[in-house]
Amino acid sequence: MRVDIVSIFPEYFAPLDLSLIGKARANGLLRLAVHDLRTWTHDVHRTVDDTPYGGGPGMVMRPEPWGEALDALAPDELSPDGHTLPRLVVPSPAGVPFTQAMAYELAAESHLLFACGRYEGIDQRVLDHAATRMPVTEVSLGDYVLFGGEVAVLVILEAVTRLLPGVLGNAGSLDEESHAHGLLEAPLYTKPATWRGLEVPEVLRSGDHARIARWRRDESLRRTASCRPDLVGALPPESLDARDRAA
Ligand code: ADE
Repeated sequence: MRVDIVSIFPEYFAPLDLSLIGKARANGLLRLAVHDLRTWTHDVHRTVDDTPYGGGPGMVMRPEPWGEALDALAPDELSPDGHTLPRLVVPSPAGVPFTQAMAYELAAESHLLFACGRYEGIDQRVLDHAATRMPVTEVSLGDYVLFGGEVAVLVILEAVTRLLPGVLGNAGSLDEESHAHGLLEAPLYTKPATWRGLEVPEVLRSGDHARIARWRRDESLRRTASCRPDLVGALPPESLDARDRAA
C-alpha cells in the first residue's frame, strides 16, 4: 500500500519509523511519505491560513496550497506504473465515525492520501474539488476535538497497517480481538497462575477447548453489555445462540 500524508507538522509522524509500522515500511509492505504543506506555498511567510468568511473565531486553511498539494500527489494523468488516483482521507470531528469496518475498507485501498487540517479546518472547496476527481472520506475518531488531524492519522494508520497481509506475525489474532465480531474481547491472562492472591480462572487452565471458547464468549458478551450496550443492540439476532441470550 502507498500512503501519502500532508501536514504542516511533518515531525508528528516520526513514530511511523518504529515498531511494526516501521518494519512494514522497511520490508516494502507500506510505502509511506510525509509532505510539508508549506512546500506548496509561494509567499515569504509560507502562509497556509486566513480568517473565516462569515466571521467567527480562529483561522481556516487556505485552498491554494492544498490544491497544489493534491494536484502533485494525485495527478490526473496515469503515472508510468499505471497508478490510479488515491482515496483522500481527511480527519475531522465532523466526519463519519472511524470503526474497525472502515479500517478494513481502507486497508483494501492501494493508495491513501491523508490531509491533516489544523486551526478550524480546511476550506470546504478543497474537499469539494477533490471529490470531483477521487473518493474523499472525512473521518472522525470520536466525539471530541483535537488540535488537528495529525494524531488522528497516526491512529487510523496503525489500525489500517496491522490489517495489511504480512504485517502481523499471527494473523489469527485479528479474528479474536475486540470488534472482530461486533463484540469486545474477553479478559486475557498469562503466567503466573496466581498473582497477588488473584487466580487465573480455572477454565482457562483446564485444556478443555470447548469450555474455554464458551467462557470467552460469555465474558465477551458480558463485557460488551457493560461497556458498550450500543454494540449489543447492533448485533444481528441470528449471531446470538440460545446460551448467548441467557448470558
Ligand atoms: N481533528 C480534530 N478533531 C478530530 C477528531 N475527533 N477526529 C478526527 N480528526 C479530528
